[in-house]
Amino acid sequence: MPSIPIPQPPPHPLVGNLPDIDASKGVFGLVEVAEQYGPIVRIQFFNRATIVVSSQRLVNEVCDESRFGKVLGVSLREVREFAGDGLFTAETQEPNWQKAHRILMPAFGPAALKRMFDGMDDIAEQLLLKWERLGPTARIDVPDNTTRLTLDTIALCSFSYRFNSLYREDMHPFVGAMVRALVESRGRSRRLPVQNKIMLRRRHQLQEDNALMFEVADQIIRDRRRNPSPAGREDILDTMLTAADPVTGERLSEENIRYQMVTFLIAGHETTSGLLSFALYELLRHPDVLATARAQVDEVLGTESARFEHLPRLGYLDQILKETLRLWPTAPAFNVAPYEDTTLDGRYEIPAGQPILVLLPQLHRDKAAWGEDADLFNPDRFSPERAAAIPANAWKPFGNGQRSCIGRGFALQEAMLFLAKLLQRFEITSADPGYTLQIKHTLTMKPEGLFIQVRRRDVRI
Ligand code: HEM
Repeated sequence: MPSIPIPQPPPHPLVGNLPDIDASKGVFGLVEVAEQYGPIVRIQFFNRATIVVSSQRLVNEVCDESRFGKVLGVSLREVREFAGDGLFTAETQEPNWQKAHRILMPAFGPAALKRMFDGMDDIAEQLLLKWERLGPTARIDVPDNTTRLTLDTIALCSFSYRFNSLYREDMHPFVGAMVRALVESRGRSRRLPVQNKIMLRRRHQLQEDNALMFEVADQIIRDRRRNPSPAGREDILDTMLTAADPVTGERLSEENIRYQMVTFLIAGHETTSGLLSFALYELLRHPDVLATARAQVDEVLGTESARFEHLPRLGYLDQILKETLRLWPTAPAFNVAPYEDTTLDGRYEIPAGQPILVLLPQLHRDKAAWGEDADLFNPDRFSPERAAAIPANAWKPFGNGQRSCIGRGFALQEAMLFLAKLLQRFEITSADPGYTLQIKHTLTMKPEGLFIQVRRRDVRI
């Protein structure tokens, strides 16, 4: 097949397609362009071009790790300012990525997840107790509460550190610094280097925010060195401080540990709180799904306190979480590039190193892969009978291959446990039945202004 040009909205002088993409809509600004131009579209910001792909057919091709690998998109390159060569923002070829990957993969594996169950349960219990005490008339801000839950959970499970977000009015200053830094990273990626240079106030704010995040990480390391964990109670921080890479025998440097900590705190809570918030949003809109989920929770947990052994029997909750991530992939895009000049779909020539952005909200609604009802929330798609028929690489909320999410099991276990405990204990209703979805975009996405009310069920646990 002869090669053909990739469709592109007509570029404007100097800025390219910048004015064609509505920045306030986050990644959904790109979705609008993809809807207009099709499953492959070239976007140019200033002199940087990105190819955006969004059909299962094309994504399946770019997920072939023998031809394509992760590259840092412009936003992630900015995030590297504070996440350094931590796992998320390192290049695959960097020795520190490979070393940390080998050291940390087992720290998030099945045996480790079992050990982390109690920490997850501890924080979930705190939040549910708080809701119970607030009573049935309180308006509960869902994303705010789930953000406190997930931040405290990742910090307790990985570093045995308590942010105690549920006992304070304002979030820990780390959260403010992190959110501002993420928003500014996105802003910087849409500006010219010279513009970024002259915006002094923003630069200083970013420097202050980075310093605060590093200080939180350094303080936790100092405390640990002074008070080592008791034998048998080691956590991920201990692994980072003591474990040697099985291949090189080397340890992680202090600087790299600090970057990993900032990375885990960022990657480990924003996305999972978004997942839980969207899951509640969908459950409230689908009373039949909510009823099925509750029936399963009642059957499996009954009046018992949730235990690790219950989790594999809560398959319907797992389906709900997967379907939520299909419609609302809270980390909505990732970038890959070909190792060598290549031809995509047999007709689009792509030079080596050219970033290709996989646009998840669009991929996850591709009718060719998901059927005509792709826009509808239906957890049955992930039932054991139907899941096997999902086409390869049609569902990618956790990224691809060796660079996919290290915290996938952690996030799903944490979210499932919280949902199970919530449904066991409370009736939930929307505090604003007329709520229309508003999405807040940083590097991730969350529903904004979503409030619920909870009423204790008559179960003695
Ligand atoms: C990587 C999504 C939870 C830590 C990724 C990537 C995605 C993703 C899409 C690949 C990014 C890319 O290719 O550029 C999610 C979602 C989550 C979640 C949707 C929750 C629902 C977590 C948690 C942690 C975590 C709980 C805890 C530590 C990481 C790290 C990487 C990563 C360290 C980089 C892995 C590497 O390249 O070696 N995640 N994530 N994530 N995630 Fe998650």
